Order: sequence, then C-alpha cells, then structure tokens
Amino acid sequence: MLACCGAALLCLALWTPAAHAYPMYNDGFGTGCFTCHDGFSGGPQHPLHAMHTSKFGITECNLCHSNGPGSTPVRTYTSGSGGGFGCVGCHGNDYGETSSSNGLAKASGYGLRQVHANNGVTVCATCHKPGLLGARNPFPAILPESVKPPYYKAPFSNLRNPCASSEEDSTFDVNLVGLDNDGNGFSDWPADATCSEPTTTTTTTSTTTTTLPVACGLAPAGGCVAADGGQLMVSEKASGKEKLKVGLTKLHSAVTQSTFGDPVTGGTSYAICVYDASDTLRDEISVARPGDSCGTPPKPCWSLISTKGYKYADKTNSADGISKMTLLGGDAGKGKIAVGGKNNASAGQTSLPTGIAALLQSSTHATVQILTVDAGCFTVTVTQVKKADGATFIATAP
Ligand code: HEC
Ligand code: HEC
Ligand code: HEC
Ligand code: HEC
Repeated sequence: MLACCGAALLCLALWTPAAHAYPMYNDGFGTGCFTCHDGFSGGPQHPLHAMHTSKFGITECNLCHSNGPGSTPVRTYTSGSGGGFGCVGCHGNDYGETSSSNGLAKASGYGLRQVHANNGVTVCATCHKPGLLGARNPFPAILPESVKPPYYKAPFSNLRNPCASSEEDSTFDVNLVGLDNDGNGFSDWPADATCSEPTTTTTTTSTTTTTLPVACGLAPAGGCVAADGGQLMVSEKASGKEKLKVGLTKLHSAVTQSTFGDPVTGGTSYAICVYDASDTLRDEISVARPGDSCGTPPKPCWSLISTKGYKYADKTNSADGISKMTLLGGDAGKGKIAVGGKNNASAGQTSLPTGIAALLQSSTHATVQILTVDAGCFTVTVTQVKKADGATFIATAP
C-alpha cells in the first residue's frame, strides 16, 4: 500500500540525487523507500513491518536489520549476520554482482526497479545505470519470476516459490496476488507466463474450472446482511499455533441457501475480511475452493446442510488456515455463520495469516465481513472488546 505517493513524487521532483540516499529504507534526512512506503517506520507494530515478519515466517531480524532488532539505518542491499542480503534477499536476485558500498557479493533489484518504472517512478534510473553501483554493463537480462530470490528458503523465511500468490500475497493489500519479482507487469501463476503452476502437497483438485477469488474492500462493504450477534477471536500467543474464530449469529433478515452462493456444484468462493475501529482492512482470508476435494482419502471440502446451507471441512487447513466453515440460513434472526482456522506449525500447517492481533491492538471495536464472489455478503461489528493486548483479540456483539 502506498502511504503518501502523491506527496512523495512531489518531493522527489524537487530533490537532487545525493549519495547514500536510496541504499537505505530511511537515510535520516527524509529520503529512502519510506517516502512512498512508510509502513515499516516505528517497527513491529506497523502494518508493513508486521506483515513481513509474521506472514513470511521471519525469525531472524537481521534479514533486514544490520545489527539486531530495530537497528537503523535499514539498508536495501545488505544486512547483518543471519541475513546478509537486506531487502533484495526477497525483492531481488543474485546476478553475481558486488556492492559498490561495501565490496561484498550482493543480490540486485533489477525486477523491483522495473516494477517502479512500470508505475511511473523514474527516479531509480538516475543512479542505477549500467556499470554504476556494482551493476554490470550492460545490465544483465532480468531473471524470470520462477527463479527463487536468495531468502526464499529455510531458515530465512517460509517463502519457497516466487510464482505462488498463496505464499507471497500480503494479508492487507487489496489484491490477492504476490510480487511481480521480474517486473514484467504480471504477478505469479497463472498471470505470469514465466511461471508454471505451483505444486503443493495440498493440491488435490482434479477440476479444471477456474475459480475466481473474491477480494476484501479497503473499507467494509455496504448492503450486507447484518448479524445481531457475533464474535471475533484472534489468538496469537503461541507462535505456530495461532487460532481464528469468527461467528455471526442472529442474521437480521431471512437467508436462503442461495444467499450463500453454491460452493458444492457452483463456483462460489469466499473472503473473510477484518477491519479495525477506523475501518482499515487488517486481515483478509480467501477460501476459493468450490468443488475441490480435501483430505485423504479425498472428499469434497464443501457439502450441503440439507436445503439450508453449506459446510466446509479441511483437516490440512490449507486455504489461509481455515479448517471449518458453517453457513446456515433460516428465517429472520435465525441464520448463522461460523468460521474456524488455525496454524499447526509442527504439522507444517502455517497458512493462517498472523500478526493480526498486533494490528488490532487497542482497537475499540472491529468489523468482520464474509463476502461471496457471486451471492450475498454478511457483516457484524463486535463492540464488546474483552482483550486487545496485541497477542490476543477477543470481542463480541452486541
Ligand atoms: C517515488 C515513490 C516510490 C519510492 C521512493 C519507492 N517506491 Fe516502491 N513503489 C512505488 C509505486 C508507485 C509502486 C507500485 C504500486 C504498488 O505496488 O503499490 C511501488 C511498488 C513497490 C513494491 C511492490 C512490488 C510488486 O512486485 O508488487 C515494492 C516491494 C516496493 N515498491 C519496494 C520499494 C523499495 C525497496 C524502495 C526503496 C529502494 C521503494 N519501493 C521506493 C513507489 C515508490
Ligand atoms: C523485512 C525487513 C525487516 C525485518 C525482517 C525486521 N525489520 Fe524491523 N524494521 C525494518 C525497517 C525498514 C524499519 C524502519 C527503519 C527506519 O525507519 O529507519 C524497522 C524498524 C524497526 C524498529 C523501530 C526502530 C526505530 O528506531 O524506529 C524496531 C524496534 C524493529 N524494527 C524491530 C524488529 C524486530 C524485533 C525484528 C525481528 C523480529 C525486525 N525488526 C525484523 C525492517 C525489518
Ligand atoms: C541517489 C541515488 C539512488 C537512487 C535515486 C536510487 N537508488 Fe537504489 N541504491 C543506490 C545505492 C548507492 C545503492 C547501494 C548499492 C550497493 O552498494 O550495492 C542502492 C541500492 C538499491 C537496492 C539494493 C541492491 C541493488 O543494487 O539492487 C535496491 C533494490 C534499490 N537500490 C532500488 C531502488 C529503487 C526501487 C529506486 C527508485 C525508487 C532507487 N533504488 C533509487 C542509490 C540510489
Ligand atoms: C522475506 C522476504 C522479504 C524481505 C526480506 C522483504 N520483503 Fe518486502 N515483501 C515481501 C513479499 C513476499 C511482499 C508481497 C506482498 C504482496 O504483493 O502481496 C512484500 C511487500 C513489500 C511492500 C509492499 C508493496 C505494495 O505496495 O504492495 C513493500 C513496500 C516492501 N515489501 C518493502 C520492503 C523493504 C523496504 C524491505 C527491506 C527493509 C523488504 N520489503 C524486505 C517479501 C520480503
């Protein structure tokens, strides 16, 4: 998400390139990546920082920092022991080049700079020219998206496949795709032709229909069926064993099976969206598995609840950590929705987004919405906050 792009572009137009500016996230003199992406400033409580360290399973702070947790400046091209590559460990690749700043072997962000050029940010080319800053002359061909950046392996992060949106997608940006690592204008499989379909042990589907995921809006959607009761529980006290529970009860109006779409024989996918007290999107979960099979032996993930609704069960928690969903219609005041999800790191199940409790710390209420790609949407605002200490968030409605 861009924090202040318009203003930053203005600053850049007035700013004369000086040495030691962009090599840093923030050089202390008002220049660096943060002029356009300020979400790391201030550290772990801030959205972009929290997203990086939790979603990508980072435990070594020196992946970015140079001398332990919180040390500044944070450099884009190098970092301390345990890491070494800085931001380009993920946002770049190894082209066999050497840093002009410290003489060490480094990765380089050719693809990232191309993303910026594609988005009209041309200032990068004023310093990054062939033969300068350790770059080769002429520039090497940009490595395709399928080539892993240096940090896409253990023990650095849980990222493995630069073509897999399921691994890379941020929990709070608007889209459901990850990085355009090679800057060719397309992110991940299937959009980027240099990518092949990510294979994961949990892909058990044999259907060939394309499933369109549904994305959460930046702010809560209007016109959804409201719930008069509900709860949100995000428990992240135990790392690797995070839990999520969402409940919407007493759906205000009458709800039929078709208000939930049809994930059994149709193509309905779902999103679960969590907003904080200022209506900022803090968590986005996607369950886009209509007609899919789950578990061993494979069974349909979705099944009917008579003619009233649907239920979802996945023991591997592979769709953003969700293990079960119950969507039950009924007369006004009777319908309800329940969603449960968890991580179980010891079984390799880590897809439930984390860092959410920190993003909801001290929030005085929260709004949860369940969206469908082709049918109704549902909303609840939980106002009775029982806990919001940064590790756990529990709130209920009314
Ligand atoms: C002049 C403003 C500006 C500056 C300075 C800037 N960026 Fe960006 N950045 C953008 C724009 C515009 C986009 C494209 C829109 C988006 O993805 O939000 C972008 C996108 C990105 C992305 C997403 C790439 C993708 O594949 O989706 C990353 C990562 C990023 N920038 C990192 C950096 C880093 C690291 C620096 C510092 C070396 C930096 N940016 C400096 C404006 C800027
Ligand atoms: C993905 C890169 C990255 C990782 C990994 C990372 N940080 Fe940071 N961190 C940053 C950036 C960038 C800043 C902002 C620095 C600045 O504003 O100059 C920052 C700032 C901070 C700050 C605030 C420092 C200040 O003076 O404002 C703290 C504290 C912090 N990080 C702690 C941590 C801890 C603890 C870890 C390990 C669990 C960690 N960071 C891992 C990138 C990272
Ligand atoms: C004022 C000159 C300057 C500008 C403008 C500039 N950079 Fe840099 N950048 C540097 C220097 C110096 C380094 C450190 C290179 C080294 O020693 O390896 C660097 C390093 C980087 C790195 C890490 C390693 C590498 O060589 O790729 C990335 C990524 C990067 N810059 C991206 C950007 C992006 C994106 C922009 C435009 C938003 C940009 N830079 C604009 C000077 C600049
Ligand atoms: C462990 C790998 C990793 C490291 C290290 C890392 N990033 Fe990222 N970063 C990612 C991934 C993956 C995304 C993808 C988000 C998406 O598109 O959904 C991302 C997203 C971003 C974005 C958001 C772009 C947007 O507008 O959507 C910015 C800005 C960014 N990173 C900057 C940085 C900076 C600055 C550093 C170094 C301080 C850094 N990153 C280090 C993996 C990493």
